[in-house]
Amino acid sequence: MKTKNTLDTLELSNSVVFVRADLNVPLNDKVISDETRIIKSIPTLQFLLDKGCTILLSSHLGRPKGKINKDLSLEPVAKRLNELVSSPVYFVNDCIGESVDKAVNDHKGEKCIILLENLRFYSEETANDLDFAKKLSKHAQFYVNDAFGTAHRAHASTYQIATLLPGAPGLLLEKEIEYLGGVLTAPDKPLITLLGGSKVSSKLTVLKSLLEKSDKVLLGGGMIFTFYKAQGLDIGNSLCEDDFLENAKSIMAEFPNKLVLPSDVRVTSEIKESSGTQNVSVNSIPKGTMGVDIGSETEKQYCDLLKSAKTVLWNGPMGIFEIADYASGTKVVCETMAVLNSKTIVGGGDSVAAVTQMGYEDKMDHISTGGGASLEFLEGKILPGIEALS
Ligand code: 3PG
Repeated sequence: MKTKNTLDTLELSNSVVFVRADLNVPLNDKVISDETRIIKSIPTLQFLLDKGCTILLSSHLGRPKGKINKDLSLEPVAKRLNELVSSPVYFVNDCIGESVDKAVNDHKGEKCIILLENLRFYSEETANDLDFAKKLSKHAQFYVNDAFGTAHRAHASTYQIATLLPGAPGLLLEKEIEYLGGVLTAPDKPLITLLGGSKVSSKLTVLKSLLEKSDKVLLGGGMIFTFYKAQGLDIGNSLCEDDFLENAKSIMAEFPNKLVLPSDVRVTSEIKESSGTQNVSVNSIPKGTMGVDIGSETEKQYCDLLKSAKTVLWNGPMGIFEIADYASGTKVVCETMAVLNSKTIVGGGDSVAAVTQMGYEDKMDHISTGGGASLEFLEGKILPGIEALS
């Protein structure tokens, strides 16, 4: 989907710009434990600062459900942002009303960022309320949406406001559309997708969409056991969604040459640190054990397939990577993707956490900042936040 404008087609110089970012970072006692989303928002902010803009920056944090909740204040984000950008960052403890009016009066014309308080302290935000959007937009000449992580929500700051101001995607949103959209519309072929995660139920729609687009889809994670059970295999105590056995059967019947399941897995009798694992064929999973990772034969087979790809898309870990004994499959995928010459895209959620934790963040061409948003995008849905700019 093409957006109507880009940052280059708008006459932004020296204007007041309302920027919607996704600064929904994890906070532990007001300490930011992962600042990826702040870091990824900086290129757009710097672009606007270089144009002499005064930025009204906004975001949600958590789900305060229309009530002020000091634990979900964006103030710690303002402090961190102030350390990361060279222009001043001011924090306003509201996102509409007199305190915002005053901050704009004090700083209009100044090259700076005014970070507004959590939008979701007002229920009108998630209600996509027009009057609230008018209040948010009243000081700005332009609207920039850089919040890919929230693009699947039709909220006042992601949707309604785009009807009031000339708007464009920020550089991060543009990159997400380019990479994830590119996979869906015109990927360099062969396109090989790795799809992991624990539940078939949450990946069913994206699996079908990606089977249509990809040359091969390699499965991993807990969801593979529902497929094995659907084939009549004994899966021991492994995770299984019995309600989805029929879905698994029909997918295997529809895409017999594209869908690839592991030939071996690592199993354990109890999920805990240092439990160790046994590598077994999927035809002989011992009673009383459960699968926690793909096996070593599968690692080799998947790596060979990945090497034949021109585009690799990865969503969802291969095993319970948070426990060192079960992290091998996910680690091997990271290592292999890191040295490929093909386009490598990591599509949100737990696989991003794995790549970051294992230190391969800089080795991928694109790491999506969206969890739910990237999943819905890859399912082929039109995301309201992008639609509103189109
Ligand atoms: C996310 O973390 O996935 C986004 O910030 C969206 O948050 P939400 O699911 O609360 O809308």
